[in-house]
Amino acid sequence: MRLSVKRAVVLLLTLFVTCKLTTLYQVLTCPGKVPRPHVVSILVRNLNQTQYRYNQNTPMVFVGGVPRSGTTLMRAMLDAHPDIRCGEETRVIPRILSLRQGWGRQTEERWALEDEGVSQEMLDAATRAFLLEVIARHGEPAPLLCNKDPFTLKSAVYLSHIFPNSKFLLMLRDGRASVHSMISRRVTIAGFNLSSYKDCLTKWSNAIEVMLSQCMAVGRSRCMTVRYEDLVLQPRATMQRVLHFLNSPWHEGVLHHEEAIGQPGGVSLSRTERSTDQVIKPVNLEALARWVGHIPADVQQNMESIAPMLRRLGYNPNANPPDYGQPDPEVINNTQRVLRGDFKTPTSLKRWAQVSPKSVSKGGRN
Ligand code: A3P
Repeated sequence: MRLSVKRAVVLLLTLFVTCKLTTLYQVLTCPGKVPRPHVVSILVRNLNQTQYRYNQNTPMVFVGGVPRSGTTLMRAMLDAHPDIRCGEETRVIPRILSLRQGWGRQTEERWALEDEGVSQEMLDAATRAFLLEVIARHGEPAPLLCNKDPFTLKSAVYLSHIFPNSKFLLMLRDGRASVHSMISRRVTIAGFNLSSYKDCLTKWSNAIEVMLSQCMAVGRSRCMTVRYEDLVLQPRATMQRVLHFLNSPWHEGVLHHEEAIGQPGGVSLSRTERSTDQVIKPVNLEALARWVGHIPADVQQNMESIAPMLRRLGYNPNANPPDYGQPDPEVINNTQRVLRGDFKTPTSLKRWAQVSPKSVSKGGRN
């Protein structure tokens, strides 16, 4: 049979109308199931009116780890790079991620949600839009956006799925140092009992185990582990590796983050965060082995079983302290300046409680 032009046009029109009617039927009968492209795009302008457009496919980096592992130092060093902006902790992002995780578990709530037309795809789209909005707008725009909320690394697999071009930096630190830091500085972390080294070391080991397994599941091309000890002993080589991993060019400024604090496009600090008065200083060795001599003897004797992740991460549980490596000369110089007292927290960055004794400051984290 020969197909005339007229017949072909009629056939094409019929196909088109059938297709549209099918879609309309699907929308009317089953609105939640129609695949729709959920691409949210956010436009932000900087002070020079340069426009940045972000969406789910924009590359971004998530920095995390167990709190007190040098996560703020890492993000401040990245913030000192002109192409990267992390900013302060948002605090809402880990909470949303934890809610989202709850709605995805195979429980009655999930079945009820699906019954009510709230699909997992919808929740992903909503979570993605929420995260993108907060990450894009809570600081100045930059070519590479970064987020630092320590516990987000517990959700690295999920984040890698909703942001297909994201990368992850997982900070590792000797758990004895992180735990001594939270206990001695009274940094509240949900679930950690600050009156017990044993409890905190156990919780540290569990938390870092989860984060490491998430990082491994995401894979080496998208998740990199960085040791706090390497960052403070050899900042140049460590940051070279980090920037290479992020496909960002080398910038000397990352080794002098303290000079970029409060500068336009530089490092913005929070007066609420508990690391602010340490991160105003250049990279230094003050905190490396401060924990030595503070761990109770019974806990020290059973360290291997209390915190099994120490050995897995390569920290000798019986060495007090282990040999962390040799420092670069510039770090020794920085440490001498810090010990001389050259760096004081400016009043504008003092914690609320320090500024006004009446104000309440919890400084807690999720
Ligand atoms: P200590 O409390 O042992 O001093 P986080 O930001 O993940 O909570 O980590 C806080 C730790 O990072 C603190 O450990 C802090 O000293 C360390 N840190 C912050 N700024 C630093 C700097 N400039 N040089 C070296 N360590 C720094």
